[in-house]
Amino acid sequence: MKPSLKIAVAGLGTVGAGTLQLLERQAGRLAQRAGRPISVAAVSARNRQADRGADLSTIRWCDDAVELAAIPDVDVVVELIGGAEGVARNLVEAALANKKHVVTANKALMAHHGTALAGEAEKQGVTLAFEAAVAGGIPIIKTLREGLAGNHVSRVYGILNGTTNYILTTMRESGREFADVLAEAQQLGYAEADPSFDIDGVDASHKLAILASVAFGRPVDLAGVHTEGIRHVSRLDIEFAEELGYRIKLLGIARLTENGLEQRVHPCMVKRTTPIAAVEGVFNGVVAEGDFVGRVVLEGRGAGAHPTASAVVADLVDIAAGRHVPAFGVPQAALEALPGAPMERHQGAYYIRLMVLDQPGVIADIAAALRDQHVSMASMIQHGRGAPGEAVPIVLTTHDTVEAAMRRALDAIGKLGTVLEPPRMIRIEDF
Ligand SMILES: NC(=O)c1ccc[n+]([C@@H]2O[C@H](COP(=O)([O-])OP(=O)(O)OC[C@H]3O[C@@H](n4cnc5c(N)ncnc54)[C@H](OP(=O)(O)O)[C@@H]3O)[C@@H](O)[C@H]2O)c1
Repeated sequence: MKPSLKIAVAGLGTVGAGTLQLLERQAGRLAQRAGRPISVAAVSARNRQADRGADLSTIRWCDDAVELAAIPDVDVVVELIGGAEGVARNLVEAALANKKHVVTANKALMAHHGTALAGEAEKQGVTLAFEAAVAGGIPIIKTLREGLAGNHVSRVYGILNGTTNYILTTMRESGREFADVLAEAQQLGYAEADPSFDIDGVDASHKLAILASVAFGRPVDLAGVHTEGIRHVSRLDIEFAEELGYRIKLLGIARLTENGLEQRVHPCMVKRTTPIAAVEGVFNGVVAEGDFVGRVVLEGRGAGAHPTASAVVADLVDIAAGRHVPAFGVPQAALEALPGAPMERHQGAYYIRLMVLDQPGVIADIAAALRDQHVSMASMIQHGRGAPGEAVPIVLTTHDTVEAAMRRALDAIGKLGTVLEPPRMIRIEDF
């Protein structure tokens, strides 16, 4: 058997400790699959005393993670610290500069600096691998980059954040409001004390930008991702979605349109019968559509020590076996920037919820505002009648229309004296 692949692991938290455990437990199988053993030569974290669930007594410890990049016999630096800047970025840059392969689970780093890092890896003749950065244990990067290499991918979309999917699923199952379910998710450890990264769609936007780059061979364009979170999704919306045959999901969607590359993260209405609607709780799901293969659906755990370690180790096995693919599937110079499709030009159907005073003429005023913007209504729901002065919900769905027109119509509707709260809008997807 060939000499072992020597790795240095920076960050021994959830993912780092899980990776060490996997490497220990599956050592024999991994050596067979890679054609050589994978051995941990050095590690770094902040607290040397913490129990990592693996035996570190014979492994070199570095207080300064960046030192790992300079250890001569280390072949691969595994960056599992996190963050787009600081020590994680310094370490990855130093490792590439020293011609070490890099494996990272860091979506923030890849979303902000992925294209430049891929260029540097290529220049140095080493691999930059990041399977774990998107959808945890789901091998979506490899699927898009290698498994679907024969296809022109037209669209890729998915549930890329388990926390928000857990919240939306629990709201639907329990009939509770967003704030209540979020507080419970925080208590259970499914949501961070500062949940904004998840619930405002930022985490999903990082992952979508990376996915879009791999799927379409474009430089990573995080700034081009239109991002909305789930704070405004209410119990009422979820109930109406059920009635209309939909589920509400926070999706990341990237597709090529005649206006350019559309990248968006926002709550969506998806038909209850679609595979993506069935992805519930903390699970992630990704769907890719290719011209030869058709639709490919992957579902699995998008986070957690073991699923994420599974993705990290898959990258290590590729490197150990000598399998090399450019980070984004094509050489960095071949990544073609494509203009981003402006959200105002997005075309699709919409769900609108209004809280209105139940009095004569209200519907006519709303219909007129839609007509003035050439927005055509597909359906309307109103249950029962409101008491005088009390707001009742009215729900409309539209046929396909242009986002800018929809927004102008909603502006006008929001100004009507009979509409008591800002109109709520959720895009309906045609999967
Ligand atoms: N958690 C998941 O399920 C998941 C899934 C997919 C991707 N990821 C990504 O994986 C990465 C790691 O996430 P995680 O959840 O494992 O984080 P975590 O549990 O917070 O662990 C971070 C680790 O980095 C170490 N660290 C922090 N600053 C350091 C420094 N300056 N020098 C050396 N070590 C340092 C910490 O040391 P101490 O332990 O000593 O404090 C800790 O071991 C992130 O990029 C994250 O986005 C995570």
